[in-house]
Amino acid sequence: MKYGFAERVRFMKSSAVRDILKVINQGNVISFAGGLPEENLFPVEAVDQAFHKAVTTNRKSLQYGETEGVAALRDLLAERMAAKGLVRPPEDILVTSGSQQAIDLFSRVMFNKGDIILTENPTYLAALQVFESYETNVIAVDSDDDGMILADLEEKIIKYKPKCIYVVPTYSNPTGKVWSLERREKLLELANQYHVVIFEDDPYGELQFVEEEAPPSIASLDKNDLVLYTSTFSKTVVPAMRIGWIVGPHQIIRIMAQAKQATDLHTNSISQHALVHLLQDFDIDKHIQTIRQTYYERMLVMKRLLDEVSIEGLEYMVPKGGMFFWVKLPEQVNTTKLLNKAVEQGVAYVPGDSFYVSNPPQNTMRLNFTNSEPALIEEGMKRLVKVIEELNIHA
Ligand SMILES: Cc1ncc(COP(=O)(O)O)c(C=O)c1O
Repeated sequence: MKYGFAERVRFMKSSAVRDILKVINQGNVISFAGGLPEENLFPVEAVDQAFHKAVTTNRKSLQYGETEGVAALRDLLAERMAAKGLVRPPEDILVTSGSQQAIDLFSRVMFNKGDIILTENPTYLAALQVFESYETNVIAVDSDDDGMILADLEEKIIKYKPKCIYVVPTYSNPTGKVWSLERREKLLELANQYHVVIFEDDPYGELQFVEEEAPPSIASLDKNDLVLYTSTFSKTVVPAMRIGWIVGPHQIIRIMAQAKQATDLHTNSISQHALVHLLQDFDIDKHIQTIRQTYYERMLVMKRLLDEVSIEGLEYMVPKGGMFFWVKLPEQVNTTKLLNKAVEQGVAYVPGDSFYVSNPPQNTMRLNFTNSEPALIEEGMKRLVKVIEELNIHA
């Protein structure tokens, strides 16, 4: 049977990360590939009690719910954001099935075929997948360690008249980078001057390693209704609950809610009610401190091992939060080809090329340090360095 798929299917790609995860889950491979949180840190008892309470005390948790999300949860989200300077009423919040759905719904209501979106290069792979599925054109803006380079950004805004600038400015996936305050402010200025919407994707903002270093979200600096901000409980509670949210200009949120009706009616009611109980009965901020401390320690282990590597041309930035090291290898190393050898040796990573919008260099990789205990990080890095050194010698 020849199936008559829609045209747009041509623009759908499988995620390189998901494909890799399928392979490595089969063997005895130490994986630095996925962006997975540490399972041993999951607040199992609190989640268990929260779900139990949701199911046994309130039948609404088993019922169809409002598309915008459970009111009590939106109130709590508004409170938590306000504590960080992002002040918005609960009516401007849409609860979503993870931040991933927020990206998709936003794209659905905003983009026509051929619309331009500006992003960093590299950027979050699964956002690129969404943007491409809506047949948009994603254009890369040059950036350095502090964020997008403003001259290049302005030039591209003028040249391409983008509809949106998509950014992951805090402990980014894949680079671990944090935008400076100045770049955040200047991005807002440019967006205001040229009337462009900013989409701020912030799943890692709470995972900073040093308390004082937490920069304000771009949305919290916005005075002109320019920013859509999304975050998630995937990294701070458990990803399986699939609870994220998006907040921003009411007009956009309202239309996104209509699109959500057509997609899934509403986000899982049990998860939402359970999350309300969890946020009320459990000290999530203390829990986040534990996650930060554990990830910080693991980051330091991986950093020490990277520091010890004597491969000329190896570069990386030490992340101030989040989950990833972004590593550049000598130019002659092709990390996609290297991956097979690495997996044979029992270690995996994500080759960097799939995170690029254009001109992907072949010599980058993303290493996750949150999902392996220190002893496994030691062993995995030993295996990885051996594979790289061998390849470099024979290159
Ligand atoms: C930058 C970025 N945005 C969005 C997401 C999606 O998160 P969620 O689990 O909330 O859908 C992720 C997940 O890793 C991410 O790294």
